[in-house]
Amino acid sequence: MRNKKPALIAITLFTSVILAGFAIVGDPDIPRLWDLQKYKSGYMPLADRSVDIQQISEELYYKIPERVGYKTYPFYLPGREPKGYYAWLLGQQPEIVFNISNIKSEADWVKAGEMIYELPMVTQSFMDSAGDMKTLQQWGDLLRSIHAPVAKDGIIPFLQLVVTQKGKISLGLFACAECHNRVMPDSSVLKGGQGNFPFDHWWGKTIKNNIEQYNLNDSSARDYQIGIFRYLYSAAWVRNEDQAFMEKPEPSKAISIFMATVPGVMHRHGSSLGAPTAIPDLFNLQERKYLDHTGAALNRDISDMMRYEAQNQEMEHTNSYGGFKPDPRPDSIILQSYTRFSDAQAYALAKYLYSLKPLANPDKGPRELVARGRIIFEQEECSDCHTPPFYSDNRLTPAAGFTQDKAGKDTFDLCVNTDPKLALYSRRGTGYYKVPSLIGVWNRSALLHGGYVTTLEELFNPARLKNDFMPSGFNPNIDKPFAVKGHNFGLSLDAEDKKALMAFLRSL
Ligand code: HEC
Ligand code: HEC
Repeated sequence: MRNKKPALIAITLFTSVILAGFAIVGDPDIPRLWDLQKYKSGYMPLADRSVDIQQISEELYYKIPERVGYKTYPFYLPGREPKGYYAWLLGQQPEIVFNISNIKSEADWVKAGEMIYELPMVTQSFMDSAGDMKTLQQWGDLLRSIHAPVAKDGIIPFLQLVVTQKGKISLGLFACAECHNRVMPDSSVLKGGQGNFPFDHWWGKTIKNNIEQYNLNDSSARDYQIGIFRYLYSAAWVRNEDQAFMEKPEPSKAISIFMATVPGVMHRHGSSLGAPTAIPDLFNLQERKYLDHTGAALNRDISDMMRYEAQNQEMEHTNSYGGFKPDPRPDSIILQSYTRFSDAQAYALAKYLYSLKPLANPDKGPRELVARGRIIFEQEECSDCHTPPFYSDNRLTPAAGFTQDKAGKDTFDLCVNTDPKLALYSRRGTGYYKVPSLIGVWNRSALLHGGYVTTLEELFNPARLKNDFMPSGFNPNIDKPFAVKGHNFGLSLDAEDKKALMAFLRSL
């Protein structure tokens, strides 16, 4: 009996050390990410209300292997890397840098979140000790051919290198940074700006190169594309021409649609081929009630942001849309093919995202002009929707043709009549478009949900409404004219007033 006491004390001591350790390292406030109830209440219903979105079970999600928080290294435009860079990298040991036990303060969370922002979703083998330089050459050719913006010192800030094993370098793809980094005119990198990697040009060329490299005949090329389209863009319950095209694609036309985008607008998974999404900036996120152009996801608290991150780092493909699964493979294959964020990784990332603040325009324009523009902004009633100080009232406007049900909470009756395809005919389609914030609009070059226009001048040019208009942004008609319809506000102002209005917008 006597002997038990010290043992008990030892155990108690040991437990309290663990608990104390836990209190320091763990954050008891980390919400559980995969929560089906919260998904249900935190996602808007689809335009077709008969189609229900269902996420995979919590049990399955938490069985998926966690993403490993490897250290990432800069990827240089091939030929611009420092001398001996790859030889040095081949000598590096793998290093895991996301480590929850190093997180002690709010600032640490944000810093850890920034690492996750840079962490690739997938990696592909790039180089091993044998030092085969072929892939390097191919990437160099590809990136040059799509005019990928290059940051200071030759860095391509959209892609990363990872060492997962000594003597083996992998190239990382689909990190948040790939689409949400913006290379500025002075070659600096703005994280969370409207990304300007020409993603769809890269994607279109990659598909084209694969068809050529594997010598696919027309019918195999078609099958290859059908597989990609199902996974990324199909909404099987929708009957419209774009969805029909994806079931029977014409391979070269499909590639031309990707090539008809401009940096800043791309076919995100869940959009539909021919109805891409402009990349939003990620500033003042905490002020946004809805995420995505269609307001698909609510942003009620940090746990909603975590669920959004998981959905948009591949888990969306595992959803069921009224029985249609973009990735129809069985659970056993899902477990082998996906990685997931840990709750802590997603939490850190959300903390980082919430910390991002917009960059002020360094060139605000003449003060008097801006002041006059502000008056015009009020006179034209822009502020009814783009309400200061956030320059969005966080409401949703029904897309053209959407018959609104009265259940909608923050919805307008007023339709701005832009192209309704994304809102009506896609997996992201809620029937609505949200009123975007205008803060930071000076630094965007793909405007409206589909990035059809690239400048404010073009947005406020009434000629864009006509059928002979050639937009400078995404053109769904590829090389034929396309009328950029809708959002008719401010179009009839005279030239001076327009100039003032734009100067004001660029000051936000
Ligand atoms: C392949 C490109 C790509 C990658 C990778 C990517 N995003 Fe996005 N992101 C987009 C596009 C395009 C949209 C617009 C989608 C829409 O409107 O439906 C978007 C929208 C968002 C939004 C919604 C903002 C708003 O106000 O509507 C957030 C938040 C976001 N992304 C965060 C992330 C995070 C965090 C990661 C990494 C885990 C990430 N994204 C990875 C392209 C990407
Ligand atoms: C009835 C509400 C409403 C009014 C009034 C309104 N807008 Fe908008 N605005 C929207 C919506 C909704 C969008 C997004 C439409 C889309 O993506 O299809 C938008 C988009 C924009 C954009 C593009 C932003 C981006 O990043 O893509 C700008 C710029 C803009 N509005 C400025 C103005 C100005 C200036 C006025 C007044 C002359 C005005 N708006 C009046 C609802 C409104």
